[in-house]
Amino acid sequence: MRKYDAVIFDLDGVICSTDEYHYLAWKELADSLALPFDRQYNNKLRGVSRLESLNLILALGERQYSDEEKQAMAQKKNDTYRRLLEKMSPADVSDDVLSTLNELKRKYPLAIGSSSRNTKFILSRIGLADFFDAVIDGNDISASKPDPEVFLKAADALSQRPSSCLVVEDAAAGIEAAVRGGFDSAGIGDASRLESATYHIGRLSDLLDIL
Ligand code: BG6
Ligand code: MG
Repeated sequence: MRKYDAVIFDLDGVICSTDEYHYLAWKELADSLALPFDRQYNNKLRGVSRLESLNLILALGERQYSDEEKQAMAQKKNDTYRRLLEKMSPADVSDDVLSTLNELKRKYPLAIGSSSRNTKFILSRIGLADFFDAVIDGNDISASKPDPEVFLKAADALSQRPSSCLVVEDAAAGIEAAVRGGFDSAGIGDASRLESATYHIGRLSDLLDIL
């Protein structure tokens, strides 16, 4: 008997890598505010929403900003980020990821559960716009990971209970969201070192040993 009936994937850091583009866009903003933002600090922003990321960056300085100022800064960062995302193409999906997705699609309904409001744009850039059975993203939720809302909505969209779905995540916030929502999880990348993840995988095709 199989253990899971569906798989929910995080997008950034699992299906493709957008870390460097997030970094470059935040770096431009941080430099304009003379804040000491670097790649190591950028790692803290993984899985965290845009506004929460901005707050973490602004915490590097003393100055307080109004909500309007913060909205304008987040918009500016996103404009830069979207310009950088234009460079993405199907070549940004590795052979390992693509072959694993194709193999799993033959057996399971598959969903995306991402905090990013740019999810659909990224999926279209990398040639996977119509691939998944459900896509729940930052536009569909009121609370970002580590809140489980995005994964609960993804399970619901697939008509599955959390206990029947495996969540695949690269961020600590995402593994916490999975645990809080009652999902088993497979941690990849940074999240492969987290004890709270049910499985620890080195590359996406390792899922084929679990599923
Ligand atoms: C997550 C990323 O997928 O989306 C975070 O890991 C990012 O780094 C978050 O902050 C929100 O992204 P966006 O595209 O809505 O600014
Ligand atoms: Mg991620």
